[in-house]
Amino acid sequence: MTASRGKFITFEGIDGSGKSTQAGMLCNWLKEVLRPGGVLRTFEPGDWDGGPLLRRLLLEGAGMTPRTELLLFLADRAGHLDAKILPALEKGVWVVCERYTDSTLAYQSWGRGLALKEIQGLLDGCRFPKPDMTLLLNIGEEAAAARLGRRGELDRIESSGPGFMARVAQGYRELALMCPERFEVLDASMTAEAVAAAVRGRVEKLTGGRK
Ligand code: TYD
Repeated sequence: MTASRGKFITFEGIDGSGKSTQAGMLCNWLKEVLRPGGVLRTFEPGDWDGGPLLRRLLLEGAGMTPRTELLLFLADRAGHLDAKILPALEKGVWVVCERYTDSTLAYQSWGRGLALKEIQGLLDGCRFPKPDMTLLLNIGEEAAAARLGRRGELDRIESSGPGFMARVAQGYRELALMCPERFEVLDASMTAEAVAAAVRGRVEKLTGGRK
């Protein structure tokens, strides 16, 4: 008997929205709900064997143009899918990924100003699979920036200047309206425990009552 395909869940949100905390808490809960070993926690960019070099280029590289940045994110995703995400899903493992295609649309289109249709065409051409559910952690730019400030030095993308993160946040809100069948929007200004409870409430739709 072959295992049924695992579910693919992504977390999205601006920098400082709490994705890592929530991904960790969701995975701990899923490990109890699903059988042990049934969950893979991962992130973009960079969480596969070929990824660290690409991540470094993306977050620290000099002279990066918006199109170079876009294509490097897609290159990282292709490797991440082939080496890690798709084999896991095929084995029936559930995958929880911090950032995926919606990051590319929100950051490179709304943030950097590249045409949405052009990016969507590239994503379609790459045949990246759609997530089963995308959890958008919605938070004001000021609150997120305050959290980031507490974390110390900002990377190349986080320091993209005034207005950048507000445009990205707006992009996410529009994307959620464009794809209501897979987006779940959560208020990320609550305590981590309250957000985690809300996340579990949404993900229960996928676990089919297994609790
Ligand atoms: P990271 O430190 O992982 O950010 P965070 O902790 O907020 O998730 O850095 C990833 C950065 O790359 C982040 O600023 C968002 C950006 N990014 C894009 O611009 N496009 C993409 O397709 C992806 C995956 C990330």
